[in-house]
Amino acid sequence: MCGIVGYVGQRPVQNLLLHGLQQLEYRGYDSAGVSVLSDGDIRSVRAVGKLQNLVDAVEERQPAVATIERPATTGIGHTRWATHGRVNEENAHPHFDTADSVHVVVNGIVENYLALKNRLQDMGAEFTSETDAEVIAHLIAHHLATGDLVEAVRLAYNDLEGHFSFVAMHKDEPELLVGARLECPLIVGVGDGERFLASAVPAFLEHTNRVQFVENGELVAIRPDSTTFMLPDGTPVEREETQLDWDQETAQKGGFETFMLKEIHEQPDAIAETIADRTVRETGVDFGGEFDEDILRNAKRIVIVACGTSYHAGLIGRYAMTEWARMPVAVDIASEYRYSNPVVGPGDVVIGITQSGETADTLAAMRLAQEQGATVLAVTNIMGSQATRDSDGVVYTRAGLEVGVAATKTFICQVAVMYLLALRLAELRGTLEPERLASLVGQLKQLPSTLSELIERLDGAEGQSTGIADKHGRDNFFLFLGRHVGLPVALEGALKLKEISYIPSDAYAAGEMKHGPIALLDEKTPVIVCATDSPVLDKVVSNMQEVRARGAHVIAVATEGNLDIGEHAEEVIRVPKTDWMLQPILAIVPLQMIAYAIARSRGLDIDQPRNLAKTVTVE
Ligand code: M6R
Repeated sequence: MCGIVGYVGQRPVQNLLLHGLQQLEYRGYDSAGVSVLSDGDIRSVRAVGKLQNLVDAVEERQPAVATIERPATTGIGHTRWATHGRVNEENAHPHFDTADSVHVVVNGIVENYLALKNRLQDMGAEFTSETDAEVIAHLIAHHLATGDLVEAVRLAYNDLEGHFSFVAMHKDEPELLVGARLECPLIVGVGDGERFLASAVPAFLEHTNRVQFVENGELVAIRPDSTTFMLPDGTPVEREETQLDWDQETAQKGGFETFMLKEIHEQPDAIAETIADRTVRETGVDFGGEFDEDILRNAKRIVIVACGTSYHAGLIGRYAMTEWARMPVAVDIASEYRYSNPVVGPGDVVIGITQSGETADTLAAMRLAQEQGATVLAVTNIMGSQATRDSDGVVYTRAGLEVGVAATKTFICQVAVMYLLALRLAELRGTLEPERLASLVGQLKQLPSTLSELIERLDGAEGQSTGIADKHGRDNFFLFLGRHVGLPVALEGALKLKEISYIPSDAYAAGEMKHGPIALLDEKTPVIVCATDSPVLDKVVSNMQEVRARGAHVIAVATEGNLDIGEHAEEVIRVPKTDWMLQPILAIVPLQMIAYAIARSRGLDIDQPRNLAKTVTVE
C-alpha cells in the first residue's frame, strides 16, 4: 500500500516524480504529494484524491515548486492508501520535521509511533498530521544532532517497529536520498548519473530497467553516481545489479480504455508464456531446474496459503492436486492461517501464492511455516519480490506487469501454475496414466488459442456481457454458484463484481445454497452459475432448478455443445470445451467481462476501485 518514489540526478525532478507516481497510483490513491530540493530549500505540494489533483496543484503553484534559480534535481513523491489518519492534506506525504529540513515518504505502518511521538513531543517536536509516518521525519531530525543524514536514518531505523519502507531527504544534502526497508518493498533504479528509489519498478521503468533490490532489513543511500547498501548496524553490503526484461509499453494501456480490459485481452499471451517451455515434453511437465524438484518429490502434504484472488487460484490447485496426484492438500486464507497456530512442519510443502510477492499476510504465513520446518514454494509474478526471498523455491507466473487493481491475467496464470505443479506431482508420484497425462498437457497447450477465440467472441459493445450489464447493471444483489472447480470460479466472479462495480454479491457452493442463502432469492435476483461440464454437472443442474423454482434469474456459464443447459437457465454463456478440470481458465473470462461491463455501465473507475490497493503490504 502507498507508492513511494525518489530521484537524484541531473534532470529536473518534478515531472519525473509525477510520472513515477502515475505508475504507482494503483498502490493507493487517497492523496499524493511531492517534495523537491533546490538551493538548500525544500518545496512541497500535497493534494487529496487522485494524482491528477496533485498535478493540478503543482501546476497552480508552479513558481513554488518548479524552478527557483535552476530546476530541482532531487526529490521524493508519494501516493497514499490511508491507514493511520483521515484522508486530508495534512495527512498526505511527504511529512517533515519541525524545522522543515527533513522530508520523508513512507509506505507501511510504524507500530510504535505513539510512544516515539510522545517522546519527541516532550523534546519539542511539533507534529502537523495524525499519521504514524510523520514520526520518522522528526526522529531523523533528532538523530541529525549526532551524525549526517545516512547515520541519522540508520539510528532512526533502529528505533522503529512495524513494517514499512521510507525515503528521506535533507535540505542540506542536495544529491542524496536515504531509504530503508523493513518488509515493504524498495527498489533502486540505476541510470547513468542518476538513481531512483521506488516501491515498484514501473515508477522508473521509462528511464531504466537496471535495478538493485533493497533487501528486507537494509538501508540504502543513493547519489547520482553511486548506491550504498548497509545493514542496520552500519555494516556495508555489496549488491549486484539486475537487468529486467520489462519495457515501458507493458505499463501503458496500449489503446484499451482501461488497464483491466487490456489485461483481460492479454490473458492468452500470458498463459502461453506461463506454460511455454514447461510443456515442451508431450507426456509431462518440466520446470527445467527452476526450483529443486526434491521439494515436490519429498512432499507428504501440501498446504496452500494466499489472499483474495490468489486464494481462489489455490482452491483450484487443491482440486487438481487431489484429483491428479492423489496428494493431501489444504488451502487456507493467509490472514487466517498465520494466527491459527497451524500444525505444520517437516514433510509439508507450503505454497504461498502471491501475484505481487509482497502481501503481508501471505509472507507471514510462509515464514511461519518455514520457521516450523516446512519447505516453502512461492508462486509469484514479480521477480525479486519478498516472496522469492522468503522461500525455498520459486515458480513465476510470467503474466507480465498487471496494473489494474482487479486481478485478471495473473489469476489465470496462477491457475495454470497450479495445473503444472499438479501434473508434475502426478508424474513424480505415478498417479496418472501416461495417456491421460499427455492428454492434459495437450489440452493445457490449447488454452491460449481457445482463450483468444473466447475473448474475441465475448468482447465488444454487442457482446453478451454488455447485454447482461444492460439488463442487470442496476440490480442490488448477485449470487454466484458453483461446485468443485466451479466453486472458485464463482468466488472469483463475485469478487470481481464486488471490487469494481460495488454491487453486493455472494458466492456459494451450489450444494450449500439450501442451507441458507436460498432465502436471499426472489424473482429479481440474478444468479450466475458456473455450469461447465464436469462429473458434478447433474448436481449443479439440480441446484439451478432450485433457484428457478424461487423465480430467480439464472445466467449459466456452460460448455459449448451442452444444449440441455439452456432448458435450466434464462441465459447461457458458452465457453469452449476442454478437460473439465481445466475449465476454470475459460469459465472465469465471462465473469470478468460481466463485472467489467456492469462497472462500466455504472461509470465507475475500473482500474482504481474505491478503498482498494493493488498490493496489500499491511496486515
Ligand atoms: O499480490 P497478491 O496476489 O498476494 O494479492 C492478493 C490479493 O490482494 C489480490 O488477489 C486481490 O484480491 C485482487 N486485487 C483481487 O482482484
